[in-house]
Amino acid sequence: MPVSTNPDVMEKLVSLCKRRGFVFQSSEIYGGTGSVWDYGPLGVELKKNLKDRWWHAMVRARDDIQGIDAAILMHPRVWEASGHVAGFTDPMVDCRNCKKRFRADDPKIKGTPGTPDAQCPACGMKGTLSEARLFNLMFKTFMGPVEDTASVVYLRPETAQGIYVNFLNVQQSTRQKVPFGIAQIGKAFRNEITPGNFVFRTREFEQMEMQFFVDPQSDHMQWFEYWKAQRMEWHHGLGLSPERLHFHAHTADELAHYARAAFDIQFDFGGTLGFQEIEGVHHRGDFDLSRHQEYSGKKLEYFDQPNNRRFVPYVIETSVGADRTALALLVNAYREEEVPGESEGRTVLGLHPSLAPIKAGVFPLVKKDGMPEMAERIAAELRRRFPVFLDDSGAIGRRYRRQDEVGTPFCITVDGQSTQDGTVTIRDRDTLQQERVAGPFVGDYIMERIGN
Ligand code: GAP
Repeated sequence: MPVSTNPDVMEKLVSLCKRRGFVFQSSEIYGGTGSVWDYGPLGVELKKNLKDRWWHAMVRARDDIQGIDAAILMHPRVWEASGHVAGFTDPMVDCRNCKKRFRADDPKIKGTPGTPDAQCPACGMKGTLSEARLFNLMFKTFMGPVEDTASVVYLRPETAQGIYVNFLNVQQSTRQKVPFGIAQIGKAFRNEITPGNFVFRTREFEQMEMQFFVDPQSDHMQWFEYWKAQRMEWHHGLGLSPERLHFHAHTADELAHYARAAFDIQFDFGGTLGFQEIEGVHHRGDFDLSRHQEYSGKKLEYFDQPNNRRFVPYVIETSVGADRTALALLVNAYREEEVPGESEGRTVLGLHPSLAPIKAGVFPLVKKDGMPEMAERIAAELRRRFPVFLDDSGAIGRRYRRQDEVGTPFCITVDGQSTQDGTVTIRDRDTLQQERVAGPFVGDYIMERIGN
């Protein structure tokens, strides 16, 4: 794993996210729920903007991908077919002394768990680590009023299976021809053993997944390469620094049970976390569709009419976490800097304007001479097109700082001249340059700069 040369900003981000309403700990007033987080007013906008960009790039802007929204609860046999009941387990060891739990392959464990010389990495005691035991990562619940083994269902640990079981429904209802894809965004749940690092690894998270169905007799590796390149380009388009992104190829040992080939797109989160996966691009072969055919007894073959051929397609999957990518965006955007000519520095979230939760701050310079009324009129007009924040309290410099810190790309000031000639100043978050623009053109000016 390459060592990061970027600073660790996680602690500062966690604090900013709470203070400014991006992310709160779930059920905080009860002491919090382990590794579950709630998105506040600004966080929900950021994540929604991110998901909208993905949906646009993967579904709306293409004619070969269809969107769906499958249910979280699925037939329990789905998870037998997918391999999750048998294979979605991690070997774990428990410390009898400090009660902490670790992955059996944790490099910090010295010695062999279960033997007297094995040492707990947390409390340092020797001989207290249990032997490795398998631990299933799926959340179980019960459907219906009776809690018995017949009513066990699982919260889905990935959204992909909702796509496989609907493969023919979508193909036949839309008359798509192979190669084509199905995409969805939705919640997934994993009883992670070692969650942490804020929203990086949580027990409830959102995935944006796309399964692309290809003819096994075609050059399917070419599609794998195509999707690798497309997905990396998408991350660049979000404004993630190219030098903080790279591919990591899975070795034979790392490949998931379903995968023939896999690459992670990793982002450098800085500090000790360093480069970590934010997206997986997987060649899943015909594993999933074949298994669902076998377990359901229903054919999941595609009929290639021109060639009068039936086949089970291969699948190229792209799977990206919305929460993890939102965290990458925040880490990438966070900076503290001096401001030329000013004694106080500033904290900035240099988010791409299309991702920023608030697009413009609107400030009356002073609370008199018609400036508040004009600012209110402009804010109301702009709010019909994008989120704005009207702020009339405190020195103008402070108001700029408050917007810089949440990534607002533009700040509009209504000053003495505005009430005379109808123009306002628009300050750019990054260059600090100000331009004077006529009131009626402010909306178009900003929309043009938000771009895609
Ligand atoms: N369908 C394939 C699949 O689920 P994965 O590599 O296990 O593959 C894909 O997950 C993406 O989902 C990851 O790259 C990550 O962004 C996100 N993800 C997985 N587990 C997560 C967790 N516990 N918390 C937050 N995001 C997670």
